[in-house]
Amino acid sequence: MKNTNPWWLWVTGAFFGILGLMELFVDSGEKPAIVEYPMAQLFMLFTLLLLIAIALIVQSIENVMFQTLSEEAKARYLESKSKKWEWTWARKTYARLMGAKPIEAEGEIILDHNYDGIRELDNKLPPWWVYMFYASIVFGLVYMLRFHVFGGYDQDLEYERNVAAAQLEIEEYKKNAKDLVDANTVELLTDAADIKAGEELFTINCVVCHMADGGGGIGPNLTDDYWILGGGIKNVFHTISEGGRDGKGMIAWKQNLKPLEMAQVSSYILTEIHGKTAANPKAAEGEIWSGPSAPEKSAPEEGVPVQETDTTSVVMNQ
Ligand code: HEC
Repeated sequence: MKNTNPWWLWVTGAFFGILGLMELFVDSGEKPAIVEYPMAQLFMLFTLLLLIAIALIVQSIENVMFQTLSEEAKARYLESKSKKWEWTWARKTYARLMGAKPIEAEGEIILDHNYDGIRELDNKLPPWWVYMFYASIVFGLVYMLRFHVFGGYDQDLEYERNVAAAQLEIEEYKKNAKDLVDANTVELLTDAADIKAGEELFTINCVVCHMADGGGGIGPNLTDDYWILGGGIKNVFHTISEGGRDGKGMIAWKQNLKPLEMAQVSSYILTEIHGKTAANPKAAEGEIWSGPSAPEKSAPEEGVPVQETDTTSVVMNQ
């Protein structure tokens, strides 16, 4: 029995089809899954064996069935199998799309004129080209109506949308990467978990000089509205990160604390310590802070000098 559709052809096709699907659905980063995971190699090997087994089984079933046919039916079956319909179909489609006359039929389309023996064939435009041309006209029409008549989005709007989407992604990223903060980007943290972490950090590192209630000791009072080095989250973060004035005793905590930890302890000071009444408050030092993110109650009183600084700058008034 002559086989016109060799089994290895469709086994290979199915194998690469499954491989492609696997690569599509298995997320393996830069490298293809088949290189990255031994499991994938095993899976593909198993798939290959399975495909070959199926092919062999199908073939033998076909053989057995063939033997049961009558002579006449056998002949008919062989004839239908030998037609190779798939290739004839492909060849016909190809010829139709090219639209060229076969060489034997060129006599029908040759033109009369004759330039020193050179003559012209009047071939039609190849249909594939013509179809594409029509398609581009339809596309152009739709495009024109969509964007120029009914006023769809334009480049500017598309750009703005992309920027807005990117902005969201950045926010999302920053939320997950709190450790990226510095004195310029830090915001007051409000999460209970962050404040709690800040409290723990404060208890471990800061209480010796600032007291548990922030009333102050070696270090200044943190409960009042007066700040030596500037209030507001950004200044407080900056002070903790870079330390106080030389010789005062407040070290630069960036050596010991991560940025996120400094943001947490800053937020703890501003939400839980600042504004409370300390048991043994140290006298106010520095000036009333009224810059951005200053609490409302710290509105300047008559005659008290007011700092008009942005939150990122640090005022050194010895
Ligand atoms: C060794 C003692 C000491 C320790 C420990 C200490 N500080 Fe200080 N802190 C000081 C002194 C002294 C100052 C005043 C610095 C100056 O006048 O320049 C200060 C200033 C500050 C200020 C600025 C206050 C203002 O009025 O501007 C903040 C905020 C602060 N400390 C937070 C902390 C935090 C948070 C910790 C723990 C991580 C900490 N400190 C640990 C001694 C300390």
